[in-house]
Amino acid sequence: MSNQQLIQRSLAAVWHPCTQMKQHEQFPLLPIQRGDGVWLYDFNGKRYLDAVSSWWVNLFGHNNPRIKDAIKQQLDTLEHVMLAGFTHQPVIELSEKLARLTGLGHAFYGSDGASATEIALKMSFHYWRNTGRVSKTRFISLQNSYHGETLGALGVTDVAIFKDTYAPLLMQSAQMPSPDWRLAEQGEIAEAFALRCADMLERYVAEHADELAAFIIEPLVQCAAGMGMYHPVYLKRAREICTKYEVHLIADEIAVGFGRTGTMFACESAQIRPDFMCLSKGITGGYLPLSVVLTTGAIYQAFYHDEVTKGFLHSHSYTGNPLACSAALATLAIFENDDILQKNRQTAEAINTKMQVLTHLPIQHLRQQGMMWAFDVVTGNAQFSKACYSNGLAHGLLLRPIGNTVYWMPPYVMDADEIDYLVHTTNQVIKQSI
Ligand SMILES: Cc1ncc(COP(=O)(O)O)c(C=O)c1O
Repeated sequence: MSNQQLIQRSLAAVWHPCTQMKQHEQFPLLPIQRGDGVWLYDFNGKRYLDAVSSWWVNLFGHNNPRIKDAIKQQLDTLEHVMLAGFTHQPVIELSEKLARLTGLGHAFYGSDGASATEIALKMSFHYWRNTGRVSKTRFISLQNSYHGETLGALGVTDVAIFKDTYAPLLMQSAQMPSPDWRLAEQGEIAEAFALRCADMLERYVAEHADELAAFIIEPLVQCAAGMGMYHPVYLKRAREICTKYEVHLIADEIAVGFGRTGTMFACESAQIRPDFMCLSKGITGGYLPLSVVLTTGAIYQAFYHDEVTKGFLHSHSYTGNPLACSAALATLAIFENDDILQKNRQTAEAINTKMQVLTHLPIQHLRQQGMMWAFDVVTGNAQFSKACYSNGLAHGLLLRPIGNTVYWMPPYVMDADEIDYLVHTTNQVIKQSI
């Protein structure tokens, strides 16, 4: 089957995500045959360095033998069983491990990130109902936030291009000023700006506490907003404010969890415990769809009742799928056995040193958090992001800029040569695209 035939068949049969399909008349689809480590290979044997971890999911490289073996072993035992009325070993072990890692428990599983957002929103709303606080029905999120594309998640998302079309279908939510330090006043340091934003949050919450169920937030990095990074003091203050005014804090760690920001979970940077934590993406090392919402014993207890409808009756068919749970267990074992967080610190240092070459380009807001890097390119080219994407692929590099923000969120397994390739190819691609 030729490349061209695969493209034609895909365009005829597959409706691709987050895509105006007509644009594929100019930007050809790229059929991928296989992956290995940080590389994706097309059908002509050309390879592309996956600098975005395939939409931020891949942690330990494609074709990882340890995760693959765990899934294969599980496949010989039990591929799936429904989780209502039944249970199995991988889901129990994974839930216990996540509880130890986060200090939260009662793992409720979904499949994709957006399903975790839905679960957390519904649980928070339902908690207040079960405890007799029926006026607490509204949610707040940050300006430029992103929590997924299903209707509930889109209701707390603040990205116009994804949201505006569906506005009549969405629940109303209010957006709090974002502490993304790119929005700070000239000369204002990130911490002072974060505190100023937290004061504005407090004013709003104090006034609306009676109607607010929860504040949902992406801890430390607003990824889809163009990798907007902020000072952890905002998280600390958000926790204090939510506690003081009895509003739940939902930490959406779907993109930033599992070591991405330097600690296992981004909330650790402020030493806070949210009321709900949403996890997905990297949880299975990028192998299988799985998401989970963790919460506190107190919240769980409000659902534990003789009345059926006080229980959380939400479900998805593939909830807690054993194959996905075994991929997640293998992923957590790699973190533990290979001291990944420490290794990542060394990799990050190497990247930081090498990327200095990029400071000669017309860029601003060069920023890094753990295993995430971003900068904003100053260019008059209105088509910069498309040019950068296409030029990147031509040079064997998968970059997917968000507007003029170029970012790297690579798998954690890059060696020195691959880091060189990433930095130098990015340099070349940007020069060609501005
Ligand atoms: C912070 C955050 N929340 C939720 C989601 C939605 O996850 P999914 O695309 O798996 O539904 C994403 C996806 O990028 C995300 O970055």
